[in-house]
Amino acid sequence: MTIASLKEASTATAQARHLDLPLLSVRNLTKKYGQGCTACLEGIYSAQGGRCPDCGTVWACRDISFDLYPGEILGVVGESGSGKSTMVKCLYYDEETTAGHMSIATFKDGISNLFNESAQQKRYIRNHLMGMVYQNPYLGLRMGFSSSGNIAEKLIAADHYHVGKIRSRASELLEKVEIPLQRMDEPPKNFSGGMQQRVQISKALANNPPLLLLDEVTTGLDLSVQAKVLDLIRSIQRELGVAMIVVSHDLGVIRMLSDRTMVLRQGQIVEHGLTDQILEDPQHPYTQLLVHSLL
Ligand SMILES: Nc1ncnc2c1ncn2[C@@H]1O[C@H](COP(=O)(O)OP(=O)(O)O)[C@@H](O)[C@H]1O
Ligand SMILES: [Mg+2]
Ligand SMILES: [Zn+2]
Repeated sequence: MTIASLKEASTATAQARHLDLPLLSVRNLTKKYGQGCTACLEGIYSAQGGRCPDCGTVWACRDISFDLYPGEILGVVGESGSGKSTMVKCLYYDEETTAGHMSIATFKDGISNLFNESAQQKRYIRNHLMGMVYQNPYLGLRMGFSSSGNIAEKLIAADHYHVGKIRSRASELLEKVEIPLQRMDEPPKNFSGGMQQRVQISKALANNPPLLLLDEVTTGLDLSVQAKVLDLIRSIQRELGVAMIVVSHDLGVIRMLSDRTMVLRQGQIVEHGLTDQILEDPQHPYTQLLVHSLL
């Protein structure tokens, strides 16, 4: 099967899944860095790169709303500084969200606003319902721990304490991302960039979360290594049916992975739709610039 036909099959499945309820729903996600002033709190400022000219507050995300369906891959694209990382950091509780609503269908029947949950519940959500893969592997891994130890940490955070089971789960996961098992006790700092990303992916999958967040995971890798990591992400999505949010400034990555795509500019969604439609017939002038590689 070619990548194109695989993608077609998976897009068809994704469309069929739209008959289901969304796994993740996000409404009006807003994140500001700074206090805000009367002008920008009421939204009456002329956005200069999302920064309020009066008080200097950065509106990194503003009123972002979307649904993600089970097993679907949603791409998020935009130039550097458009708010992509801030958005996923808010979803994963790395940053405190200023305002908005997030729900996951399998948590409290999808009724609760996950941004307002207690610290203890947030910890549960982070460890059981989500996995995160950062652009910088130093944020996602303890470089001095063994690779199996990194996975163990995530399993223990989800209350698994049986040493034998942790060990066998770690080897199963590392095998899935093609890390040679004789290297499972080596620290990721010994590994190449591509291998580190694969260890991060296996750690993020440790507790079988229904949702994986991936922020520029292949940025900075050599092209051949990049292709291998992208292949791995696709095969994981097919095999495990995990839903993903794939953030990238690189339209090649978005084209290869995502069923649907949303385009961010200065913290706001300017366009969203099926990836192929957005890439072939972009409607918003900003997307047209992106697609024609002018940004
Ligand atoms: N901790 C922070 N404090 C202040 N401003 C920040 C912080 N983190 C990000 N920003 C600003 O928020 C905006 C969005 O950044 P980011 O989410 O990293 O964008 P992207 O991932 O799309 O490159 C940028 O203007 C950035 O400078
Ligand atoms: Mg970023
Ligand atoms: Zn202001």
